[in-house]
Amino acid sequence: MTEANPFYLTTPIYYVNDVPHIGHAYTTIAADVLARYWRLRGREVFFLTGLDEHGQKVQQAADKAGVDPQVHCDKLAPQFQTLWQRLNISNDAFIRTTDPEHKSIVQRYLQDLYDKKLIYKDSYTGWYCTFDERFWTEKDVESGLCPDCKRPVEQLSEHNYFFKMGQYQNQLLDHIKQHPSFIRPESRRNEVLGFLQTQKLGDLSISRPKSRLSWGIELPFDNNYVTYVWFDALVNYMSALEYLPREKPASHRFWPANVHLVGKDILTTHAVYWSTMLMALNLPLPETIFAHGWWTVDGEKMSKSRGNVVDPNKMVGAYGVDAFRYFLLREVPFGQDGDFSQSAMLTRVNSDLANGLGNLLSRTLTLIERTQGGAVPVPGEIGTAEQELQQAAVTLLNEALSHHLEQLEFNRSLEATWQVVQLANQYVDKTAPWALAKDERNAVQLRTVLYTMAETLRCLSLATYPVIPKSAQLICSQLGIAAEFTRPLLRDKVEWGGLKPGTIIHKGPSLFPRIESKPGARPVTESSVPSQPTAAAPTSIAAPAPPASPQITIDEFMKIQLRTAKVLSAERVPKSEKLIKLQVSLGTEQRQIVAGIGKKYEPDALIGKTIVVVANLKPAKLMGIESQGMVLAAGDADVRGLVTILEEVDPGTKVK
Ligand code: MSP
Repeated sequence: MTEANPFYLTTPIYYVNDVPHIGHAYTTIAADVLARYWRLRGREVFFLTGLDEHGQKVQQAADKAGVDPQVHCDKLAPQFQTLWQRLNISNDAFIRTTDPEHKSIVQRYLQDLYDKKLIYKDSYTGWYCTFDERFWTEKDVESGLCPDCKRPVEQLSEHNYFFKMGQYQNQLLDHIKQHPSFIRPESRRNEVLGFLQTQKLGDLSISRPKSRLSWGIELPFDNNYVTYVWFDALVNYMSALEYLPREKPASHRFWPANVHLVGKDILTTHAVYWSTMLMALNLPLPETIFAHGWWTVDGEKMSKSRGNVVDPNKMVGAYGVDAFRYFLLREVPFGQDGDFSQSAMLTRVNSDLANGLGNLLSRTLTLIERTQGGAVPVPGEIGTAEQELQQAAVTLLNEALSHHLEQLEFNRSLEATWQVVQLANQYVDKTAPWALAKDERNAVQLRTVLYTMAETLRCLSLATYPVIPKSAQLICSQLGIAAEFTRPLLRDKVEWGGLKPGTIIHKGPSLFPRIESKPGARPVTESSVPSQPTAAAPTSIAAPAPPASPQITIDEFMKIQLRTAKVLSAERVPKSEKLIKLQVSLGTEQRQIVAGIGKKYEPDALIGKTIVVVANLKPAKLMGIESQGMVLAAGDADVRGLVTILEEVDPGTKVK
């Protein structure tokens, strides 16, 4: 399919030194929103994301795990891919810098620059930061610490290959000045301009001696060196176009990229390194590099050592994928820093999603079901209130949405959308259709009100689709219309009245059940177990919201026999990192249980402990060994702690 007007959009490629966190999710969700929006507008979108698999950070992580770097990357890559599926990310391609095609393209570029004498060998002495993988000059270093990450630096002297980056300083300055949209937001553009106007741009070391770092792409002209990870990583934006699109090669169609989304910390590498690399390669520069801000958590920097890293998987589990997507883009203007907290998340979910959009859908469908036999009614003549709402809904779709999304003002576009949600809910409150329903003489007016509500919702499904695609689809299916979001529904101006009277609605479960806050609730981080959403009283005349997770009755719970058990012996299951075979006493009987707790516990530490087991679980075989029950533990895929009993109790005691 060769459509006009291609749109090429990228995220940074993420280091596979650890599992994905909220920062990775943030950029990728923002990119997904843009991709979905531009597809609705009829552009041929190529949305690329992927992984940065070389360099010191990845090698160190692999060393720590005691595995070969490639094995390490292969193990972590699916964690990103699965998360993107879970977050409904509609990327068209996923690049891994260990792909053989990518490696050979990087080598081709290097050879090209070397042949053009834009790469030369020289010796260099400087202060090296292992974490940031870069050298600093004497004046940059403060008290022996890296000015960026504040970790200690070490003095290193070595021969390396350098890219003549410095010679492009003026060309780059001119480009930035002449293209106001090249670096965004404005404040970041000024930072880069300020730097280029006041400091001399040096050349860039683009190699690492293999004696220091072997995990990288070998230089094609000197096999004692590997390529500096950034020179390898940045090329992904071009290399992907050569081998990943279905219709290949796609470089001529998609390059230059329309938007490179990056975090503020990696703006220099994109705006300066990548731009000058492209200049040297005689390739056009991207249209826009947009640097977004960073998330803190409860006012603190997010870090592993603080234990406050927000795990997107847990967020989706606790709040739902669309609530998470909505929150990230609604809460903070894109480009500015933001603070994540569970209370902010709860407020947004409950006020905007449950009480706002969810309530509007729920009350509309309930009323159509109760008063119109489940069919969208034929509207009668409209008055000013209807006119106002129609106009607001259509203007949102035909003007506000594009105005804001094209400027990457996600929060503004959501603000404008929720103004229509609010207006619609106010319209319902004002017209009080439940009261109209009581008197047959108001039948025509009731039909007009209900049609206006339903058609507003159809418009809202279009406006919200890029940010909350799953919910937008649900709105359509509950309204009884086909959700055709793969079609360019926003290519032409949207007209009021697309919802056909007579359409049979399918009222389903509540779109966004209210979530009750728990006193002292902590953010849903890797180290905290998510609080379970619970149902609260309905906020309107609409049907009560069902609970977020299915409730069970006391009878159902009583079917599970929980008992204390004393560990008599424990040994590792051969060839398994995780499994431990336990012999436990349940007082009157002895059981063999195979438990996945081997990463957390040494077998010896378990002997004599009183634990809690599910005693009436059907026996199952794990790695060929029969397990006659299950041990209770806190945590998810990673066990954090066994459930034990504070007091001394006899083995086999019932737990309830
Ligand atoms: N591999 C490089 C990018 C190469 S692109 C050619 C890299 N990877 S990263 O995994 O360390 O970071 C990826 C992105 O995550 C960056 O854009 C960074 O800004 C973003 N974030 C990391 N922590 C973040 C927050 N706390 N908040 C928001 N984004 C953050 O850099």
